[in-house]
Amino acid sequence: MELRHLRYFVAVAEERNFTRAAQRLHIAQPPLSRQIQQLEEALGVQLFERNSRPLKLTDTGRFFYSHAVQLLAQTAELESMTRRVGKIERSLSVGFVGSTLYGLLPKIIRRFRQENGAVELSLHEMSTMDQIQALKEGRIDVGFGRIRLEDPSIRRVVLREERMIVALPIGHPLIDAKPVLSLTDLVSETLIIFPKAPRPSYADQVLAAFHDRSLKPEHVYETRELQIALGLVAAGEGISIVPSSVHGLRRSDVLYKDLDDPRLVSPIIMSMRMLDESEDLTRMLELIYRLYTEEQMEFIAPAAP
Ligand code: BEZ
Repeated sequence: MELRHLRYFVAVAEERNFTRAAQRLHIAQPPLSRQIQQLEEALGVQLFERNSRPLKLTDTGRFFYSHAVQLLAQTAELESMTRRVGKIERSLSVGFVGSTLYGLLPKIIRRFRQENGAVELSLHEMSTMDQIQALKEGRIDVGFGRIRLEDPSIRRVVLREERMIVALPIGHPLIDAKPVLSLTDLVSETLIIFPKAPRPSYADQVLAAFHDRSLKPEHVYETRELQIALGLVAAGEGISIVPSSVHGLRRSDVLYKDLDDPRLVSPIIMSMRMLDESEDLTRMLELIYRLYTEEQMEFIAPAAP
C-alpha cells in the first residue's frame, strides 16, 4: 500500500462518487477505480458497499478512512517540518505568549541576537495551542508558552515554575490586611482572568488553583489579555492573579502582593519539534539556562543526557 492509495481512497470516500473524486485528483476515472480495487485486494477487505449510489463506506471502510486521514495529515506535517529544519539560510521563528514578555524573553532575544548575528530572528505572539500547530506547519521553530499540551510530534522543556502573585488596586483593604494573602482571602472579590480565548489558557491555571483547594471565586470576569486585566484592576473592577514577573511592570495605581502557597505556580514551557536538533535551538536553550544562572533565578535543571 502506498500513500497514493490513501489519497485516492480519501478523495473517493469524501466525494462519495468516482467521477467527482477523479476530477478532484486530476486523474481519469478508470485508473482511479483500478487503484481502489487494488487497495481492497491488497488489504483483503471491502471498503465500499457494492453498487451503493452515492457510494457508502463499509464499517471497515470507515475505520480505514479515519486512520487514513490522520496518516495523510501527519505526512503533510512531516513535509513542512522537514522543509523548515532543512532551510539553508539560518533563521529562527519564535512564538510566545504575551505574559512571557514580562519575564526573561526580551533579554533572551537581545542576547541571542548579539551572540548569533548570522541568524535572522522573528517573533510572533500566539497562544500555546497555536504554537503547537505553528510548529507542525513550520511557521515557527520554537514556542514559549504556559500550557502543558501533549503531542507526539512536539518536545517540551519546562524551564521554570513561576510563582503567581495578586494584583490589587491601590487603596484596596487587602493591601494592609496581611503580609501575604491566600486564595481564601480572594474568593469574594471579582477575579479578573485572562486570556479569555483560546482555552485552555493561563486563565484555567488560575481557576484550577481555586478549584484544587475546594474554593470557588464568587465573581469571575474574563478578559482578552494581561494588560487589559491590569487596567481593569487599576479601575477598581476587581483583582487579578498574575505571574510574578509582571511585578516588573510598575503602575502607580496597581499593587502586587505575594501568595502564601509555593505550589501556586505557572510553568514556562519551551516547545520544539520532536527530534529537531538544530544548533540554533540548542544555543537558545543553553543561553536561557546561562541567563537564569546570571540572574540568580530558580529554574528546572535539564535532565542529564
Ligand atoms: C522566563 O521568563 O523564564 C522565560 C520567558 C520566555 C522564554 C524563556 C524563559
